[in-house]
Parts: sequence; structure tokens; C-alpha cells
Amino acid sequence: MKSIIICASTHHGNTRKVVDAIAEKFGVEVVDSTVVTAKDLSDYDLIGFASGIYAANFHPSIQRFAENNLPKDKKIFYIMTSAMDKDFSKSMSGSIAGKNAECLGAFSCKGYNTFGPFKLVGGTAKGRPNEEDLAAACKFYEDIVAKL
Ligand SMILES: Cc1cc2nc3c(=O)[nH]c(=O)nc-3n(C[C@H](O)[C@H](O)[C@H](O)COP(=O)(O)O)c2cc1C
Repeated sequence: MKSIIICASTHHGNTRKVVDAIAEKFGVEVVDSTVVTAKDLSDYDLIGFASGIYAANFHPSIQRFAENNLPKDKKIFYIMTSAMDKDFSKSMSGSIAGKNAECLGAFSCKGYNTFGPFKLVGGTAKGRPNEEDLAAACKFYEDIVAKL
């Protein structure tokens, strides 16, 4: 089974922490979409899109990456960290439109946030993602793989 996670984590590296926990435990390849813009994904059985949430959206580089590189008929999943810990994966729907992707699940947890006025109060969700979040993310990935 060949698996890859496309990741953008530009604020505090919160999402990258989650992705690295999965990558290290399960030996998954990771690509940073803020650096790499093109990759042939046709050989992969499972493709994850992981991002911090910025103004209720996945990072623009992830959106572009999916638009330009996601082949048709792939199994995908989402990982995100945000201040609100909400499922923002709908913000990817335009980018995967017409690709017949099958989404196997979405993982979300809180991520340390110092955006705008939150900086003045020392930020929110300090220390997140924490060890519990990383363990939950690994369990999420394990469950996704079991669905294949
Ligand atoms: C410019 C900016 C906009 C943000 N917008 C939102 C938002 O709309 N909703 C939310 O819940 N969190 C928002 N956040 C908080 C981030 O999603 C959160 O800190 C996340 O963990 C950052 O992930 P990263 O360190 O992987 O980039 C925003 C942060 C920044 C810097």
C-alpha cells in the first residue's frame, strides 16, 4: 500500500507535527505543498491533504496542489489543525471537484494560534497539538488504512 500526505503548515508547524507523528509511525511519505508544486500521484493508493486553517480554508498551496496533481478515482483523507477544531475540509471541495475522489475521513484537532489579536493574550491552544492529539491522529490513520 502506497500512501502520501501533502502538507502545508505555515503558522507554527502544528499540522506538520501531526503529520510527522503519522509519517514516523507508519512510514508515510510527506510532501510540503509550499515547496513542491507538482508530483505524479498516480501510483498512490491513499492520498492525504493536511493543512492549518487560515480564514476557514485549507492553505492555498494545498488547494492548488490538489487541483493540479490529484488524479481521478483516488482515495483521500484530510488532516487539519485550527483554533476552533472544526471540520473545515469542505473548503477543499472546489479543488477536488470532478475528480471522483473518495474521502475516507477527516481528522481535526486544536493548534496553537497567535494570529491577530490572540497574540496579545499569549495565543490560544498553547501546547496543542499535544501527545494525546498525536496519538488520536495515528489511530485515525490506522482506521483509514483498515478501510482500504
Ligand atoms: C492567518 C491565519 C488565519 C487563521 N484563521 C483561522 C480560522 O479561520 N479558523 C480557525 O479555527 N483557526 C484559524 N487560525 C488558526 C490556525 O488554523 C491554527 O493556529 C493552526 O493550528 C495553524 O496550523 P499550522 O501551524 O500548521 O500552520 C488562523 C491562523 C492564521 C495565522
